[in-house]
Amino acid sequence: MLLVLGRRVSLSFVKRVIPQDPVLLSKPILQNFRTIKFRVIHSSTVFAIATRQNTDTMPERRPFVRLPTDVYPVNYGLCLKPDLIDFTFEGKLEAIVEVNLATNQIVMNCADIDIITASFVPEGGEEINATGFNYQNEDEKVTLSFPSALQKGSGTLKIDFVGELNDKMKGFYRSKYATPAGEIRYAAVTQFEATDARRAFPCWDEPAIKATFDISLIVPKDRVALSNMNVIDRKPHPEDDSLLEVKFATTPIMSTYLVAFVIGEYDFVEGQSSDGVTVRVYTPTGKAEQGKFALEVAVKTLPFYNDYFNVPYPLPKIDLIAIADFAAGAMENWGLVTYRETALLIDPKNSCSSSRQWVALVVGHELAHQWFGNLVTMEWWTHLWLNEGFASWIEYLCVDHCFPDYDIWTQFVSADYTRALDLDALDNSHPIEVYVNVREVSLSDECKPRTVDLWDCLEQASGKPIALVMSSWTKQMGFPIIVVDQEQQGDDRILKISQKKFCASGPHNGEDCPNWMVPISICTGEDPGCTKLKVLLDSPETTITINSVSPDQWVKINPGTVGFYRIQYSSAMLESLLPGIRDLTLLPVDRLGLQNDLFSLLHKQADMQEEKNRIERVLGAISAPDLIQKVLTFALSVCTHNHSCPGIWSVLLAPAILSGEYKRRNKNA
Ligand code: BES
Ligand code: ZN
Repeated sequence: MLLVLGRRVSLSFVKRVIPQDPVLLSKPILQNFRTIKFRVIHSSTVFAIATRQNTDTMPERRPFVRLPTDVYPVNYGLCLKPDLIDFTFEGKLEAIVEVNLATNQIVMNCADIDIITASFVPEGGEEINATGFNYQNEDEKVTLSFPSALQKGSGTLKIDFVGELNDKMKGFYRSKYATPAGEIRYAAVTQFEATDARRAFPCWDEPAIKATFDISLIVPKDRVALSNMNVIDRKPHPEDDSLLEVKFATTPIMSTYLVAFVIGEYDFVEGQSSDGVTVRVYTPTGKAEQGKFALEVAVKTLPFYNDYFNVPYPLPKIDLIAIADFAAGAMENWGLVTYRETALLIDPKNSCSSSRQWVALVVGHELAHQWFGNLVTMEWWTHLWLNEGFASWIEYLCVDHCFPDYDIWTQFVSADYTRALDLDALDNSHPIEVYVNVREVSLSDECKPRTVDLWDCLEQASGKPIALVMSSWTKQMGFPIIVVDQEQQGDDRILKISQKKFCASGPHNGEDCPNWMVPISICTGEDPGCTKLKVLLDSPETTITINSVSPDQWVKINPGTVGFYRIQYSSAMLESLLPGIRDLTLLPVDRLGLQNDLFSLLHKQADMQEEKNRIERVLGAISAPDLIQKVLTFALSVCTHNHSCPGIWSVLLAPAILSGEYKRRNKNA
């Protein structure tokens, strides 16, 4: 099963967004997609890390090893001076570190950075200059060697370095914009997740190696300078009065991938959440108006999460900023959330409601990470899905709370859920949990969960075998199709249920067909919104008895479309659902889920290649539901030749479903 529910993004784009070759990230590709609302399949980033280390296919590569923990950071004092003309930056790091084990080497992450000098000052001792910087470029690491052993205890590691403000949209990079007069200028911005903080400063660039940060930026005095924390000091640079040194407050203890800075020209709108946090939305100059909607969302969202998690947002401010060149959709840097422009800005006069909904979801998603991800962080990238999976769900809960009119959960089914089923049915999908490394370090394990910790807690709270059920979903790729048939026995309805892997490429024909532990809920026509029976399908097939269901009642699996599987009903069961579809007693999310299952089955079961190709071609060209009816009439003529083809029922039902949707909409209009 895929990590995150995909939405409105072509698969080829997903691949392009996370290339190993950064050249593929160049602007022309991204600009083509700039207007598309999309969601990156995040774990692919991690997957790229994993495959890069695959020694079977690339035997010349050394296996991936995590950083040694004999020396670890406590506080990073970091000063950066970007040059927005030459696209370089100078950096000064003074990190308070703890030496756990006497050593004469310090290994850190470092990529495309040149170290000028490095030294270590033991607490209360003499400065020791490093005698060698050995870059392991492939591993994005540097080993600093010292002439004598650094003894156990605290000390300060000082490093002066230079780097490039690159054009790769990762690390510390330059982003191009035009002034209202048309002059081309550049901002300096960051994108560190997953492993690119090391491009801005030498660091221990692993999520579990947390520290506090004291950041200063030396910037032209007419530019806005932002970082995770609020500004605590601003003074002219002693050597150049066109520059300002901006000092930010100390951050909470945090992972390197959440550090951020932005230097550029922006306007902003400001608000205050009811829990006392200053919220600003930064926009391109002259477009402050377009930040107002996101500001409204953020101001409503912060108190919602505050209550939901029962933990206050720990920083005094949060900035949301639209970045002109941005590879992802948005990034949850603590206190300084970065967005691509289309995920943050709303033109009050011209934006449509789907743009507002998108912005609300993205803001809701990134603000959820301020707690879930930033305050509590996964121990390693294998468990990234804990972050992204949760944020991708709670963004809907939050938007539903703040904007009940949107009926956003219905859109969850039509956009995210069905999209995820489509992607995860492909042979080149991957499991939720991506194996990224061999060894898991244990520094202080507090606040650094792994997948199994979540199952343990849920198991304790529920007394149910959560780990067993969930492992079948997070460790296996794909999902099942549930095949259902029914029989009436007196007052009882007997359901025969079986499962097999659902594959877009045709029936699964591997030797051992995977099985899932499938929680199955069932409702009847008597009360379509209510679950009548719940069972756990833990075998390839089973028989279920539902008591007191009269013969005229329809029975539906998966009310609310919450289970991650497709359903193939027998022809008789499908036919019995028709009245519930026509009179709209079957809820919209149920009709949408059913419709989507039927389409996917129709597509698979049109077994004559020529007709199948024709249907696919026409379906591919369709955007309007009224056209879909015409296509289905055509498809019906294809399928009626073949009476064993259950697809015939898809064809009969889909127009009814669609016209039901019409009626409902017209009624509401
Ligand atoms: N943390 C992710 C973005 C990310 C993940 C960047 C992995 C680099 C590597 C962020 O929270 C996110 O999920 N962004 C989404 C938008 C969101 C609304 C789902 C994105 O960029 O698609
Ligand atoms: Zn996210």
